Amino acid sequence: MTSTDSPAAPPAHPGRIRTFHPRRGRMGDRQRDALARLWPTYGLEIADLDGPCDPATLFDRRAPLVLEIGSGMGDATAAMAAADPDRHYLAVEVHTPGIGNLLDLVERHRLANVRVARGDALDLVRALPAGCLDAVHVFFPDPWPKARHHKRRLIQPAHVALLRSRLAPGGTLHCATDWAEYAESMRQTLTADPDLVDVHGGYPPRPAHRPVTKFERRALTAGREIFDLIHRRR
Ligand SMILES: C[S@@+](CC[C@H](N)C(=O)[O-])C[C@H]1O[C@@H](n2cnc3c(N)ncnc32)[C@H](O)[C@@H]1O
Repeated sequence: MTSTDSPAAPPAHPGRIRTFHPRRGRMGDRQRDALARLWPTYGLEIADLDGPCDPATLFDRRAPLVLEIGSGMGDATAAMAAADPDRHYLAVEVHTPGIGNLLDLVERHRLANVRVARGDALDLVRALPAGCLDAVHVFFPDPWPKARHHKRRLIQPAHVALLRSRLAPGGTLHCATDWAEYAESMRQTLTADPDLVDVHGGYPPRPAHRPVTKFERRALTAGREIFDLIHRRR
């Protein structure tokens, strides 16, 4: 490991099928510095959870909570949180440089409504109380294109049932992907859930409140179409 490497995230439950690629990442000085200084205030280590997690304890006041799974470098999280100060944003990532980057953005933009969790988002969601989320964002989840890897996809029936159970009635599950086959699989999975309603009856244009992410820019440059899916809990 060089001085700019970060350790790969530890597997929370060895042997369990994971939805993310184990990877090491190079951490910039700015990200490393932000992580060292800001993690104690804004960070939550999912592997340290020892039972239920009350999200109200993470913030100083009460507000509707948005959970973002796989926040990547955190650009979308920071932009959405800045534009939406009356809701809290809890971003979850396993990739430490991305977490450092988001913490840097939190400080630079003085965002009081963001917290960052490191680890497997599904473990965190299991620890959250039912109905505690105003929205769940899953933007450009790893597509796992090979059929033998589809079991690793985040959007699959059991995970959707779990996420939906943590949404408040009327809360939204917003997914986006640049992978057409995954989009169709997501659409079928989401519409098959009897407690979710397809808000737009298909793929709406990108809503103005969802910023273009790094992965999306790359997909657009490569000429791929983007699919948003927005479902609401009954
Ligand atoms: C393709 S990237 C997209 C990142 C970002 N949303 C964007 O649009 O730029 C998917 C991210 O999801 C993260 N991820 C996948 N499964 C996860 C899980 N179960 N818990 C936390 N993060 C996860 C990966 O580490 C990766 O950074």
